[in-house]
Amino acid sequence: MTDPAHDAETLRERALTTLTTARARTTLLTSCVEDPDLTAQHSPLMSPLVWDLAHIGNQEEQWLLRTVAGREAMRPEIDGIYDAFEHPRAERPSLPLLPPTEARHYAAEVRGRVLDLLESTAFHGTRLTEAGFAFGMIAQHEQQHDETMLITHQLRKGPQALHAPDPEPAPLLTGPSEVLVPGGPFTMGTSTEPWALDNERPAHVREVPAFHIDTTPVTNAAYQAFIEDGGYDDDRWWTAGGWAHIRQHSIHAPLFWRRDGKQWLRRRFGVTEVVPPDEPVLHVCWYEADAYARWAGRRLPTEAEWEKAARHDPAGDRSMRYPWGDADPAPEHANLGQRHLRPAPAGSYPEGESPLGVRQLIGDVWEWTASDFLPYPGFQAFPYKEYSEVFFGPEHKVLRGGSFAVDAVACRGTFRNWDYPIRRQIFSGFRTARSAGDV
Ligand code: AVJ
Ligand code: FE
Repeated sequence: MTDPAHDAETLRERALTTLTTARARTTLLTSCVEDPDLTAQHSPLMSPLVWDLAHIGNQEEQWLLRTVAGREAMRPEIDGIYDAFEHPRAERPSLPLLPPTEARHYAAEVRGRVLDLLESTAFHGTRLTEAGFAFGMIAQHEQQHDETMLITHQLRKGPQALHAPDPEPAPLLTGPSEVLVPGGPFTMGTSTEPWALDNERPAHVREVPAFHIDTTPVTNAAYQAFIEDGGYDDDRWWTAGGWAHIRQHSIHAPLFWRRDGKQWLRRRFGVTEVVPPDEPVLHVCWYEADAYARWAGRRLPTEAEWEKAARHDPAGDRSMRYPWGDADPAPEHANLGQRHLRPAPAGSYPEGESPLGVRQLIGDVWEWTASDFLPYPGFQAFPYKEYSEVFFGPEHKVLRGGSFAVDAVACRGTFRNWDYPIRRQIFSGFRTARSAGDV
């Protein structure tokens, strides 16, 4: 049986729409500030915005124009500059980067040729072109860098450059604060999602014992209770690595927070505001999430627990694409795509909840899990080892579910993100869990 959503013409249409959406966002993120702000490095953790812009074009040229279409390099001399492995982020400002006008022109030139190629490419025949995978991969790549560029905007000092409406207030939460996910096997990962990346594959069965998981991400109010209780001064809650890290760097609160008398303020895209109590906590590192959970008498969910909570349908005994079912994300399901420049209050998006009643698994904040980033059984690097394989290992922790800053094309129930446990400039939060039977 063929899934009509996977029909070649539907996928071609989807590729065009999603590439166009990505470019509109890239254009906004690189035109809302003056050129000097594009070439400056706003944080040693980040590239200059103009690097991301030309890197987006360069990856698109390499994979679609050169690999899929077999064309000659348009500007072979720039490949090295935009190779993320040749040059770590801190080095990128000193490279002979294309200036903003040239970078825009290059990315636009590549895109023009790619749109012609999209019309003429058969969506079968090779692994790269099957179901339009390479086009989907490139749209996801651009959207991932759009999230990266939004992080750079958040780190940038100076007045507000980006504007977006706030999410609606949340409906009153009347349900329980956690749900029981029954024990048993479920299917993790995917072998059928056409644009799933290599690390999400293949689908495989995992046995997951019964556990409880929070119905919403941990809020700022709950996290403040941890701070007020002296959580950052009590080594009982921290791993040895986490304790050493927060001592060495004098970390006492989430990134961008500042205490003002009795209240906490935060800086968000150039504006200082009171930390909203009902919003999911944002800009915490894995060590902070892990310490909070221990303080609360709980723990972070494993990656398998997170995915089971997000995808398992107990009634149908199968794994769905999203918590709400198999339909692509719509605005009523989740806070995605930089539609808002903040997470929505805890309890939002009842239409996006899982069959067991877990909310906001998709969108709002990336959720730290307890797990290291490791390959699934049967993993095969595709189409390049530097996307996932070189990052597998205990030094990276997995984040799940996507944030308000990531587009739907790069966010699925199976999508895996990863980072170092010290990272907190990313749009990261968490929810907690406990094994069934533990009080
Ligand atoms: C999957 C978000 C960790 O930004 O480093 C972008 C995505 N890979 N270009 C990253 C990525 C190559 C990647 N993350
Ligand atoms: Fe990249």
